[in-house]
Amino acid sequence: MNKADIVEKTKAYVRETLEGEGSGHDWWHIYRVHANAVHIGEEEGADMFVVELAALLHDIADYKFHGGDEEIGPRTAREWLEKAGADEETIAHVCQIIRDISFKGAGVQTPMKTKEGMVVQDADRLEAIGAIGIARTFAYGGHKNREIYNPEVAAVEHASSEEYKKNNSHTIAHFYEKLLLLKDRMNTAAAKKMAEGRHKFMEEYLDRFYKEWKGEA
Ligand code: ADP
Ligand code: NI
Repeated sequence: MNKADIVEKTKAYVRETLEGEGSGHDWWHIYRVHANAVHIGEEEGADMFVVELAALLHDIADYKFHGGDEEIGPRTAREWLEKAGADEETIAHVCQIIRDISFKGAGVQTPMKTKEGMVVQDADRLEAIGAIGIARTFAYGGHKNREIYNPEVAAVEHASSEEYKKNNSHTIAHFYEKLLLLKDRMNTAAAKKMAEGRHKFMEEYLDRFYKEWKGEA
């Protein structure tokens, strides 16, 4: 098993599969999560083979786009990694990370079991905040035909993952349901530091958004 070859093959496979996806889960999202994960993983002294593969495969088949089937991601990743020649321990670890990584609502804890999992979860969550997070959120909202903002509909902090998944609110609400909560949920020191600037930028963005909404700026 040549680890570098498996990582390269996996990159090509993911790129081919997700190229041009329109909801913010496209290849370039994966590219950025991979870059974040390499940066954070090296600082944390993580097993980089697992980190790279999990970062590359974490959105390979998302339940949101496959009728709610939460096993489709890990299953698709396993099929690919077996074909690519990865060892069983790595495959099981990567699949566990994919199973556990997602945000599931304000009131739901989503702890990761290993250092590698914490690294990849942070790398993915950094993508949900800051300038890129804002862009992805509006891309997703448009993809789902959501309103940009509706001042008559308040944001909700969801107590369960079922409630969170059912939610169909305007996109600004998603900032309060997820994006602004992420800074305090980062696992690693490196990600906490990166999250600070991104968080501040979102606060400035919202401030400006409401001023423009009222014709004050
Ligand atoms: P995770 O990476 O934790 O699994 P998702 O794949 O559910 O998160 O979401 C990734 C990104 O898609 C979010 O950070 C956000 O930008 C966008 N998104 C997901 N759900 C919504 C929503 N209900 N409204 C607006 N954007 C959303
Ligand atoms: Ni992702």
